[in-house]
Amino acid sequence: MSGILNIAVQAAYNAGGLIQQASRSLEHIRVDRKGHNDFVSEVDRRAEQTIIQTIQKAYPNHNILGEESGLIDNNSEFTWIIDPLDGTTNFLHGHPQYSISIGVKHGDKITYAAVFDPNRNDIYTAELGKGAKLNDSRIRVSKTANLADSLLATGFPTYDMSFLERYLNIFREMLKSTAGQRRAGSAALDLAYVASGKVDGFWEFNLKPWDIAAGYLLVKEAGGLVCDFDGEQKMLESGNIIAANPKLVTQILKTIQNN
Ligand code: IPD
Ligand code: CA
Ligand code: CA
Repeated sequence: MSGILNIAVQAAYNAGGLIQQASRSLEHIRVDRKGHNDFVSEVDRRAEQTIIQTIQKAYPNHNILGEESGLIDNNSEFTWIIDPLDGTTNFLHGHPQYSISIGVKHGDKITYAAVFDPNRNDIYTAELGKGAKLNDSRIRVSKTANLADSLLATGFPTYDMSFLERYLNIFREMLKSTAGQRRAGSAALDLAYVASGKVDGFWEFNLKPWDIAAGYLLVKEAGGLVCDFDGEQKMLESGNIIAANPKLVTQILKTIQNN
């Protein structure tokens, strides 16, 4: 494993340890509301600080974009893009679907990814050009060829309801034309599930770079395709994302564009 990926994994484990310890006494956690349905807890903030410290110990000159602390700009070619706790709403309710997501961008390419599921002790990793893994085993996207047979992950609009009407139109059509839709509550894990073939595809509106940077590379390195709702590669800018095995991605894109 390369040095950078090794640090990403260490940082994810450190944050995971802190989060799991906090999960044993949820009633004591201080929670603030950032906006409508947008919560942040002291655990999100502490987990992010732990990740930043782990990165800075090894790579003091790299840039870091963290959900809770914004951009630390050192004018580096490397930018770490981190979501210290993806699935805060689940975490705060004791629902065990949440993750830590760490992606590293070198120039304009995402080159390393680590997504950690601390409840299952599963670490998903990828390195550009070297494939994707779940723990020590290589992972691949599913082979499901038809939308009608596919199980898709999605995320409901949460804080910005301007997407709701369009979302519901697409969702209605997806319910009719697929084998099922799952809304688990952690976009980074949804993408890890696409990469490991647990779901056949994933679509969501209006995500942030830290939700998708690592998961994007997991899917690509597992043989999948990722695009935005125009079929372009501007997912990190628009936040709109489709990720799936290569046979399904166009079928999902058409369903979204037609609704
Ligand atoms: C959220 C999760 C969720 C997605 C939301 C995100 P957070 O991240 O990824 O699955 O639907 O849009 O904001 O706020 O828990 O880090
Ligand atoms: Ca997130
Ligand atoms: Ca988060």
